[in-house]
Amino acid sequence: MFRDVSACNTYNYGDAVYWDARYVQEANCGSFDWYQRYSALRPFIRKYLSPSSRVLMVGCGNAVISEDMVKDGFEDIMNIDISSVAIEMMRKKLLKPGGLYMLITYGDPTVRMPHINQPVYNWKIELYIIPRPGFQRPAGSTESRSHLEPVPLTEKGLLPGDYVLEDPDSHFIYMCKKIDEPIDLSDKSTNPLTDGEMQR
Ligand SMILES: C[S@@+](CC[C@H](N)C(=O)[O-])C[C@H]1O[C@@H](n2cnc3c(N)ncnc32)[C@H](O)[C@@H]1O
Repeated sequence: MFRDVSACNTYNYGDAVYWDARYVQEANCGSFDWYQRYSALRPFIRKYLSPSSRVLMVGCGNAVISEDMVKDGFEDIMNIDISSVAIEMMRKKLLKPGGLYMLITYGDPTVRMPHINQPVYNWKIELYIIPRPGFQRPAGSTESRSHLEPVPLTEKGLLPGDYVLEDPDSHFIYMCKKIDEPIDLSDKSTNPLTDGEMQR
């Protein structure tokens, strides 16, 4: 992929909207390192850092440098970017079979599932709901559910209609585990939500 330098307006470089649009536009162009490949930067990086160093990669984009550094022995790299599109691309690319994406949010399944429950992710989702730290159960509460048990979901990945939140401001924890084998999306006989194969 090549950069059209003339199209780059430095005025927009700190703007998430600019980067989101740009990554969407270039989605089919694959990963891209804006500056140098790791092979060229390696002598500098290894001169100052050892593979046991913790690395914060600010503005990671969809570059492959982090992957190359992992292949070179680095174990602790945190990628961050202002563009949620870039992060989404990295997540799809980097999560290996068995890998876990953990999402902690106030968003209940009606708002989160449409985004994370898609075939392209090829993962199994389990939802846990825990009250805010310090939440006090009302006196006389008969609540007996364990927070360590996944919450049962409907076929559409929603909470059962009669599900009552213990704490109205509960935190929702989505554990999304990449599954090993790609599933046959043409097989309509299975329901991945209920069969535990994959969430759609
Ligand atoms: C020129 S690209 C470089 C991407 C990658 N580091 C590389 O070398 O290929 C700049 C990246 O910085 C991100 N960015 C811009 N402002 C940021 C900010 N305030 N915090 C985090 N990332 C930011 C953009 O979304 C974009 O992905």
